Amino acid sequence: MEWEKVTIQKMELKDLEDILSIEDSASLPLWSKKMFIEEMKHPFAFCYVLRGENGSMSPVFGYICFRNMAQESELFNLWVHPHYRQEGIGKRLMQFYIDFSLRMGMKTFYLEVHSSNASAIHLYHYFSYQAFGMRTIKGSSMPFS
Ligand SMILES: CC(C)(COP(=O)(O)OP(=O)(O)OC[C@H]1O[C@@H](n2cnc3c(N)ncnc32)[C@H](O)[C@@H]1OP(=O)(O)O)[C@@H](O)C(=O)NCCC(=O)NCCS
Repeated sequence: MEWEKVTIQKMELKDLEDILSIEDSASLPLWSKKMFIEEMKHPFAFCYVLRGENGSMSPVFGYICFRNMAQESELFNLWVHPHYRQEGIGKRLMQFYIDFSLRMGMKTFYLEVHSSNASAIHLYHYFSYQAFGMRTIKGSSMPFS
């Protein structure tokens, strides 16, 4: 990646405009503005955004949202801009998240991933996540196929 600098900062309301303006037809539905705002206000939630910086440009490359409570951490949302995938951004965000959470004293890390999401599963394996159980859903309620 040929950017001068990559920064990870706490998500702010002003970031949502960029995030929500990006179309991502290939992935899961993005959260709505309301969902981000509620998450940013939640007492145990943390949302961070990764931006590339090059001169006056600093596009959003990705973001991560997670909750930490009572030594348990749960990853709620991880997303990388479709133009910047497979360039290590997902790994950077995950490494940031894990380091941050370990420093907070988290001992157990959870997440949910759709069994068809090969890229995310590959990434989580890299960070030593292992499948544990299966979540089932009533047929007509499928959020994505
Ligand atoms: C999943 C996601 C976050 C990965 O981000 P990314 O920036 O492309 O990931 P990285 O470039 O850091 O790649 C991490 C590893 O996964 C691999 N990988 C990433 N995308 C892949 C793909 N489509 N197919 C195969 N492997 C893939 C990379 O090769 C790399 O593996 P390596 O270190 O062995 O080479 C990104 O694809 C995304 O935003 N998807 C849509 C949202 C989503 O599904 N989020 C997860 C919800 S649970």
